[in-house]
Amino acid sequence: MDWFKKAFGPLYPDVYGHRDENDARRAVDFLERHCDPRGERVLDLCCGAGRHGLEWLRRGRDNIVGFDLSETLLSEARRSCEEEELCFPLVRGDMRCLPFADGAFALVVNLFTSFGYFASDSENELVFAEVGRVLRPESGRLVLDHIHPPWLRGHLEPETRRTTSGGLDVRETRHIDETRRRVVKRVEVLGGAATGDVPHEWTESVRFYAPDEIEEIGRRHGFGIESAHGDFDGSPLSNDSPRAIYRLVVARASRP
Ligand SMILES: C[S@@+](CC[C@H](N)C(=O)[O-])C[C@H]1O[C@@H](n2cnc3c(N)ncnc32)[C@H](O)[C@@H]1O
Repeated sequence: MDWFKKAFGPLYPDVYGHRDENDARRAVDFLERHCDPRGERVLDLCCGAGRHGLEWLRRGRDNIVGFDLSETLLSEARRSCEEEELCFPLVRGDMRCLPFADGAFALVVNLFTSFGYFASDSENELVFAEVGRVLRPESGRLVLDHIHPPWLRGHLEPETRRTTSGGLDVRETRHIDETRRRVVKRVEVLGGAATGDVPHEWTESVRFYAPDEIEEIGRRHGFGIESAHGDFDGSPLSNDSPRAIYRLVVARASRP
């Protein structure tokens, strides 16, 4: 089974609990400062449990749609919407084939390493092709928040063990496959969490990209890089940056 169909299940929100609402607020601050879509439609591509879209709506903004493959995480997002009485349309599907009309969005955001999941470069590029299709010609924007390879190489911890805020005992082992340009992480939830059919171990495998590769893929799909940042504080991308956050703009009127 594809790893991304197994990994984003019921234990994921607690295992990645540090990626919380505070973290989402910083990302939404960045979006407000740098990519205001002025009331036009926004797509949160790979929205997970909806933390960014919910924050967007809490600020009185609207017109955002969430899209994700994980029914578990989408259900959690729906529950939060009901509790807070927010209207956040949520759609389930695969990012390689988006069920939206051509030119439907002014802004697509893909946050917290939600790209590079597929085994081949051509499948990963399909996501760029689809995003290019659903964005408005000429002015549509994509914000891609991804791994920054120098930071990854400098900070990779081969093995960690920790207890999550929800009490899960988690062991994570990591390595970089430089040939395939992927970071591979084995996650094992030890102890009592392994109940029923809930996956309690999985292996994540994410393709990482140098900035010039993103530029080249973007160019092939009609995008230009407008700016590249190293953090949601808006600082420019440098070798020391913890993240690579690209603002890409559709640079041509007709698609390839
Ligand atoms: C690292 S999580 C990030 C979630 C969210 N952006 C956040 O920051 O909380 C990646 C998300 O991608 C979704 N995903 C994985 N494979 C997908 C696919 N093929 N199509 C659509 N979504 C997918 C997962 O279900 C998960 O919610």
